[in-house]
Amino acid sequence: MEFKKLAEERYSCRKFLSQEVEADKIEKLLDVIHTAPSAENHQPIRVWVIKSEEKRQAMKKITTYHYNAPLTIAIGFVPGEAWVRSCDQKDMGIVDASIAATSVWFEATDLGLGCVWVSAFDVDKQKEYFPEMAECEMVAFMQIGYPDPTGQAAKWHYDKKNRSEMFFEM
Ligand SMILES: Cc1cc2nc3c(=O)[nH]c(=O)nc-3n(C[C@H](O)[C@H](O)[C@H](O)COP(=O)(O)O)c2cc1C
Repeated sequence: MEFKKLAEERYSCRKFLSQEVEADKIEKLLDVIHTAPSAENHQPIRVWVIKSEEKRQAMKKITTYHYNAPLTIAIGFVPGEAWVRSCDQKDMGIVDASIAATSVWFEATDLGLGCVWVSAFDVDKQKEYFPEMAECEMVAFMQIGYPDPTGQAAKWHYDKKNRSEMFFEM
């Protein structure tokens, strides 16, 4: 899809069909994460594909914002692996993980899948139910699946600040 159209079509999908996402589409989602840029190419991110029944139930323990999605792609980063800006010690791991999450959101849209970024999860419970992620700070649990046609973008999806509040010229 042409990028401008893709950017316009992306929205937070919060109603999914139970239909599984095919393996070849999951590979395409992972491809865009793999090619995503990171600060100084440190590639500090770690990614989990969550589709087993056991771990889907675990998703429901860590957040109410799971929307019964059949697939989660969880993205975090290893503290200490990312590039750190020397003047203020700003760790770019969360930025690198966010680029990966945004990339997967656009790719999901291009594949005809629905997707929503979920950061509202209980960190203590995440550590309890996903011990595999122990070395990571988790940034996004991307909920992915085929969109239920009865769902739609939230009303606020269309609420945008005036450009004059956001864009400046100098
Ligand atoms: C960093 C980040 C965290 C988010 N966390 C959640 C979340 O936990 N639950 C949720 O339902 N949506 C979450 N969202 C989706 C936003 O609420 C949504 O992108 C925003 O309201 C604009 O709507 P739109 O995506 O339909 O354009 C998150 C989005 C971002 C970028």
